[in-house]
Amino acid sequence: MAEAFVKGLTSRKAIPAKRIIVMNRSQTDRLENLCTSYGVQAGTLDQVADARLVVLAVKPNSVGEVLQTIAPHLHGQPVLSFAAGVSIDWMSHVIGGVSPVIRTMPNIPVAVLEGATAVSFGEGTSWTDKELVRYLLGQLGEVVEIPESLMNSATAFSGSGPGFVCYFLEAMEDAAVRLGFEPEIARELLLQTVVGTARTLREWDLSPHELRRRVTSPGGTTHAGVTVMDEARMRDIVDKALGAAADRSAEMGNAYRAP
Ligand SMILES: NC(=O)c1ccc[n+]([C@@H]2O[C@H](COP(=O)([O-])OP(=O)(O)OC[C@H]3O[C@@H](n4cnc5c(N)ncnc54)[C@H](OP(=O)(O)O)[C@@H]3O)[C@@H](O)[C@H]2O)c1
Repeated sequence: MAEAFVKGLTSRKAIPAKRIIVMNRSQTDRLENLCTSYGVQAGTLDQVADARLVVLAVKPNSVGEVLQTIAPHLHGQPVLSFAAGVSIDWMSHVIGGVSPVIRTMPNIPVAVLEGATAVSFGEGTSWTDKELVRYLLGQLGEVVEIPESLMNSATAFSGSGPGFVCYFLEAMEDAAVRLGFEPEIARELLLQTVVGTARTLREWDLSPHELRRRVTSPGGTTHAGVTVMDEARMRDIVDKALGAAADRSAEMGNAYRAP
């Protein structure tokens, strides 16, 4: 996630690469690689004190430890977290409320700068800090501000969404092979179908329902396939799957509730 962020900021020249200071825990070769690939600088903890924005791209179970370590260097500069399930209240509590906390839920396509990132701003985040964060995250794709109460739902559909889309694609690919296609050719057609459908929806400003209606002639091929999906109550299955993902996200976040 850290590399995706650095890549987004540097490739789009959002801020000068030299202003990005990176640090990690143990993999010095990985850090050196980031510095040589993107022109960013490796730094030390005390530099957190001079940072305009502090970004945490560590696993949820490392967030507490990292916040405790940097807390002495915080004096109001905003802290942005990529960690899934870790609440703003909990993070604020760990740092004694000295800095505003911003929580985000990106998804894997941020790695190719086509991500969908949900963001929630903690109490005390200034208007300029919000603008800065929207601008910086915007280099990774789309950014949507949501209330933190919706973070578990965002985790379910945009965080886990790429996994669900891939599940559907796997099934379509298997079916295409059964229909006689070579897997590589099936995949090529499927990928372009997904990319093309998404672009059509966006460029024509249509809802999925409307585009589906337009491509579904009564008695035609799409109609035949959709009828099978309807009979299998596909919508109920999707509804249950997203509900289960949101519940699991809430469950995982229970460990990070402020006392
Ligand atoms: N990957 C995704 O698709 C995705 C999607 C949504 C949200 N997220 C969130 O993004 C966060 C990062 O995920 P990731 O997949 O990028 O994790 P990752 O590949 O494991 O990277 C974590 C980084 O944190 C560093 N680190 C860990 N503990 C540290 C410490 N105490 N001090 C300094 N650096 C420390 C690690 O350094 P070393 O390698 O040197 O130990 C490593 O560079 C997670 O919280 C995850 O929930 C990820």
